[in-house]
Amino acid sequence: MSIIEILSTEKYISGSEIGRFLGISRDAVHKRINRLRQIGYTIKSSSKGYIIVKKCELFNEYEIEANLKKPLNICKMIKYYKETASTQTAVKKLALKNFGEGVVVIAEKQTKGYGRIKRVWNSNAGGLWFSMLLKPVIRPDGSSILSLLFSIALSRILEKKYGISSEIKWPNDILICGKKVAGIIIEMSAEQDIINWVAAGIGVNINNSLPEDLKNISISIKEVLKREIDRTEFIVAFLTEFESLYFNFQSGGFKQFLEEYNSKVAYKDVLVTVDSACNDAITGKNFGIDESGRLIIETKNKIEKIISGTLRRA
Ligand code: BTN
Repeated sequence: MSIIEILSTEKYISGSEIGRFLGISRDAVHKRINRLRQIGYTIKSSSKGYIIVKKCELFNEYEIEANLKKPLNICKMIKYYKETASTQTAVKKLALKNFGEGVVVIAEKQTKGYGRIKRVWNSNAGGLWFSMLLKPVIRPDGSSILSLLFSIALSRILEKKYGISSEIKWPNDILICGKKVAGIIIEMSAEQDIINWVAAGIGVNINNSLPEDLKNISISIKEVLKREIDRTEFIVAFLTEFESLYFNFQSGGFKQFLEEYNSKVAYKDVLVTVDSACNDAITGKNFGIDESGRLIIETKNKIEKIISGTLRRA
């Protein structure tokens, strides 16, 4: 049971009882209650104990914990900010302090959210902006594949939970009706043969409004469904889906997901250009990816297999 569930029953419950339920001290209970009040819960206290009389309207770590059906290895600890520069920066700081796998940092708003190739990521309130600290037991060159798993998880949730079909623009932009709804960034620290940590940042346009200049290339789920989406439900579904993908990938490789990924590839069999920071742009027909996550492009003269880059329609 989570603290929210305990405090949401019809009757007052004492600090020591809460402590007993959660296996924490009364002091720790006080701290959690103060934190709940800070983020917007109205909690009455009396000689009989505490009770929630009004829930917080923002989504937050307590609601997420309360809604997870089972404990997840990839989400052992949630840190929530009403506002932070970037959850990615925050999670990387925790990685450097030796935090283990399973930290999830979420923010209602980011003031310096960023995407791949250091692009500004618009992070108004209402979206889902979060970063995960992972320590996958795979070779460092497998990290690009890891990023593909995030897109599979997101696109599965859109389909299963909301009936929305989406496409994946290699490597990991999620598109609805050709417009970007979510993006993923992977940063990591690695040595020759091992990954020390991966910071995976995920941004999903959910209920946030998009600035005018992005409206022709981006879309939010609210815009598609014409209603507000419960972000707690979304992230809980995502984390649960990703947990199984992540462990299946580490034990069985990417081959098991190849067909699914390729069935969702955007601009398949179409002429595309892949821009890259290190090499010349490559233009050719897009055949989707191979088992190692490389994009297969048929140019005039040969088949190219591309490890990284940014794809656009030619
Ligand atoms: C991209 O499409 O270029 C990736 C966008 C990633 C945005 C997310 S939002 C949460 C996390 N914090 C950041 O600053 N960036 C990522």
